[in-house]
Amino acid sequence: MADYKIKDIKLAEQGKLQLEWAEMHMPVLMIIKKELQASKPLNGIKVAMMLHITKETGVLVRVIKAAGADIALVAGNPLSTQDDIAAALAAEGIKVYAWKGQDGDAYYENMRTALKLKPDLIMDDGADMHAMVHQDYPDLKIIGGTEETTTGIVRLKAMEEEKILRYPIMAVNNAYTKYLFDNRYGTGQSGLDGVIRATNIMVSGKVGVVAGYGWVGRGIAMRMHGHGARVIVTEVNPFKALEATMDGFEVKPMAEAAKEGDIFVTATGDINVITYEHMQKMKDGAILANVGHFDVEVDVKGLKKKVKPGRELRNQLNEYTLPGGKRIYVLSDGRLVNLGAAEGHPSEVMDMSFANQALGAVHIIKNHGKLAPGVHEIPPETDERIARSKLHAMGITIDELTKEQKQYMSQWRYGT
Ligand code: ADE
Repeated sequence: MADYKIKDIKLAEQGKLQLEWAEMHMPVLMIIKKELQASKPLNGIKVAMMLHITKETGVLVRVIKAAGADIALVAGNPLSTQDDIAAALAAEGIKVYAWKGQDGDAYYENMRTALKLKPDLIMDDGADMHAMVHQDYPDLKIIGGTEETTTGIVRLKAMEEEKILRYPIMAVNNAYTKYLFDNRYGTGQSGLDGVIRATNIMVSGKVGVVAGYGWVGRGIAMRMHGHGARVIVTEVNPFKALEATMDGFEVKPMAEAAKEGDIFVTATGDINVITYEHMQKMKDGAILANVGHFDVEVDVKGLKKKVKPGRELRNQLNEYTLPGGKRIYVLSDGRLVNLGAAEGHPSEVMDMSFANQALGAVHIIKNHGKLAPGVHEIPPETDERIARSKLHAMGITIDELTKEQKQYMSQWRYGT
């Protein structure tokens, strides 16, 4: 009997077409699929995946299935499931438990349903599933896992520090071919895409405030600037604040930026970056969005406590009126706007992120018993292979070091 819990299986045909489109733009992952389909390194392996259910994730799921695995899939966020993709995957025999707009209870219940598979491997985005396994499933024997995000790695490192991590986890996020591209160019495009789809406002001529100048914040600031916005960056890290300044952005505290901004985007990974006090300082009509992993950066809960219930003015856009009549617009309820209001990162960039996920998963299984519990980096040769494969797919060739150049770079005698 089919085993899934999704919105509507009739959306499968539509989802299949989306998957076809994504596969066309994910050449690196398609090469990996061919290899894994032949060698079947995940034969007999049960995999629980907690990822945003997009067409790109669908392509990854097909790769992991082709490698021989049995898969249960749940959503990485209550808003991040594309229902047609969930349907297409369910129709292909994947155990999918997810739908767009599921509430917090369903989010956790679906995770528990997926864990009934008794997975050998957990592929996660944000570390909620890794955390649940460590808190509530002490007897589950896991061979290892992968983790997609900066936020997830921060949580896993904290678990490692407490010496409670039970299995090895590949830090997909930390590969060059992940964070340099997905976090920066992926979120740069999809974050702005979310803001534009939810509002359809003109970005040009506006004041954009970007909280956090990590790789994600950089991407957002760069693309907002590219659209003609004046961009202010807020930071707590002096090095990043200097970088933002020298990249040509204004840097100031949120309490000051709050008065000037038209569009606010948080990208820090931390809580209460925009508080109700900040909102009180904002202009009438200010737009608030978040691209950090969790819905904690804009204090939407605090806002809801202080004001009357909001009204949904457009899809993914809620209006709140502050005492005195000022209106504040919150996108996707403070959750990831790029997945709530748009479709997540484009396939081309997820091609590299998910190549790391696939090869990371295979690495864990191939090295069963050899890797200590803890956070492990993707092997540099794997990272480089993905970069070279992507360049090749893009039709770009690069120079090679000559023998003399290699020698020169490994000596110390020759100077001036
Ligand atoms: N995270 C950001 N964009 C994504 C996408 N397109 N698919 C899966 N996870 C994502």
